Amino acid sequence: MSIRRLPEQLVNRIAAGEVVERPASALKELVENALDAGAASIVVRLTEGGLSRIEVVDDGHGMAPPDMALALERHATSKLPSDDIDSVSTLGFRGEALPSIASVARLTLESRPAGSDGWQRVVDNGVVEREGPAALPRGTRVVVDELFARVPARRKFLRSARAEYAACLDAVRRLAMARPDVAFALDHDGRRALTAPAGQDRPARVAALTDRALAGNSVAIDWTREGLVLGGVAGLPTLHRGVADHQYLFVDGRPVRDRLLVGAIRGAYAEMMPRDRHALVALFLDVPPGQVDVNVHPAKTEVRFRDPAMVRGLIVSGLRRALDAAGHRVAAPAPAALLDAWRPEPVAPVPVEPWGAGGTVLLDRPPGYLAEARRTFFSAAPPGFSAPLQARAEPAAAAPPPAADFPLGVARGQVARTYVVAEAADGLVLVDQHAAHERLVLERMRAALAGGRVASQALLMPEVVELDEPACDRLEVRAPELAELGLELERFGPRAMLVRATPALLGQAEARGLVTDLADELAAFDQALSLRERLDAVAGTMACHGSVRAGRALSVAEMNALLREMEATPHSGQCNHGRPTWVKLANADIEKLFGRR
Ligand SMILES: Nc1ncnc2c1ncn2[C@@H]1O[C@H](COP(=O)(O)OP(=O)(O)OP(=O)(O)O)[C@@H](O)[C@H]1O
Ligand SMILES: [Mg+2]
Repeated sequence: MSIRRLPEQLVNRIAAGEVVERPASALKELVENALDAGAASIVVRLTEGGLSRIEVVDDGHGMAPPDMALALERHATSKLPSDDIDSVSTLGFRGEALPSIASVARLTLESRPAGSDGWQRVVDNGVVEREGPAALPRGTRVVVDELFARVPARRKFLRSARAEYAACLDAVRRLAMARPDVAFALDHDGRRALTAPAGQDRPARVAALTDRALAGNSVAIDWTREGLVLGGVAGLPTLHRGVADHQYLFVDGRPVRDRLLVGAIRGAYAEMMPRDRHALVALFLDVPPGQVDVNVHPAKTEVRFRDPAMVRGLIVSGLRRALDAAGHRVAAPAPAALLDAWRPEPVAPVPVEPWGAGGTVLLDRPPGYLAEARRTFFSAAPPGFSAPLQARAEPAAAAPPPAADFPLGVARGQVARTYVVAEAADGLVLVDQHAAHERLVLERMRAALAGGRVASQALLMPEVVELDEPACDRLEVRAPELAELGLELERFGPRAMLVRATPALLGQAEARGLVTDLADELAAFDQALSLRERLDAVAGTMACHGSVRAGRALSVAEMNALLREMEATPHSGQCNHGRPTWVKLANADIEKLFGRR
């Protein structure tokens, strides 16, 4: 077989395979071009998630007709005047995006530089269809119709309009965060979905585009080391989400997805945040030329650092310093030898009828104690929950039963509003109240689902939760399933959900956080799976917002109720993520610690 040079149209189509994966990637290229053209205002219009039409209008410097022809040719760019790819300061530099898109869609390019007339050029799947004068204000307008309509192999891999729209929104959001000086607007199917005025400061822009709570719950980052500059905003550790999608990372103003950076963020927040939760951050890293290679990925979403360890160190220390200054210090680790003495211990669940009315009489417990425990534990949170104490040990005056009666002992107090301290006959028990609660919620949901649906508790005032449109769409689709799990919600306008009831077993659930997290969680779910099949994840997310979160003060009665419920629940020794929910320090080990043995 002889070797041949491929025709240009085919070359472009092959390149499109890498650069244009879906509407969102084409849109990203067009918005980047508008930014590179010095636009002060960018308007994006999408139809059907960008599947039928993507339109980007800018007021940048525009192109003269001969440049418009060149722009649609492969490897033609105005952005590398000096052949020095290391010092590129624009978002684009490959000269590939427009010809690639034009080879797999119908592309209309209209442009008008200052002081001259407008011109239009239409290319249909790689073939120039027409060109001629066009009326438009200064700037450029690009319209991409029917992406992949003639490339069935690619079209088939596109997702629903809803999913493609979510990806488009995310792409624009990231670029809008990178450039708070530029005004952005995004319309979807004729409705305004996003606006950002020009000239916002960075924290205001980030908060407006992510989570408004970030405004009052974040710290500004400003940290320099060896020429590397880290800026942006970092959410306080108390503001966390169930997925890492809310971490926005930029290198030299370019939105990137980088495992090194994500790992560094995780490292910075470690010990300040539950391990399965993710911080909200928007970090902007500026590195000197030559320290980073941006030409490692056709879509330019990945970068390679010359000194990854230094970058990681900069991020960890920059974040930690800022968070420390805000009073969120990382707890000093306990000596390893001492930690070794604490251990999770298997406890055989007390054999009771699962979720029956009363407990089997065992170890002389009063009849009905278990039902009572459940009532206390799963009832709405009592007023004491707002107590500002960090740790307390109420005298357990109300006739505490002797510790010997119960495997997990009798509650003696609470530490850091997170751990229950209990005294058992043979040692000291520490319970992670949140992890334990999460497990109990899962087991309860399983049991309730086996018998139909989970009981819900109506809210006195239905709560309106504002979210972005794709998040509302996802929740709306899953609403019937969520109702089975005790969460009743309905659509309330394009960008809000109305929560009518929450699962009763969560106690006074915090509806806003719960619904926001579930929306995040659903984004990561395989659409084919039912929520029952993903019950562990859903129950875990729900339990995070139940009344026994870490950081809530519990009364002695509630603590004991929690311990009894754990004893009666299968698998309660491990949380949904496989970590222990409680550990025990044997009396003998306590004696050793004090040199009595
Ligand atoms: N919105 C716009 N306004 C003005 N000029 C533009 C615009 N879009 C594209 N151009 C011109 O067309 C050229 C080709 O654009 P294209 O996106 O294909 O390549 P690039 O931006 O140079 O590199 P990359 O492939 O990395 O994006 C650009 O170099 C630029 O000169
Ligand atoms: Mg470009």
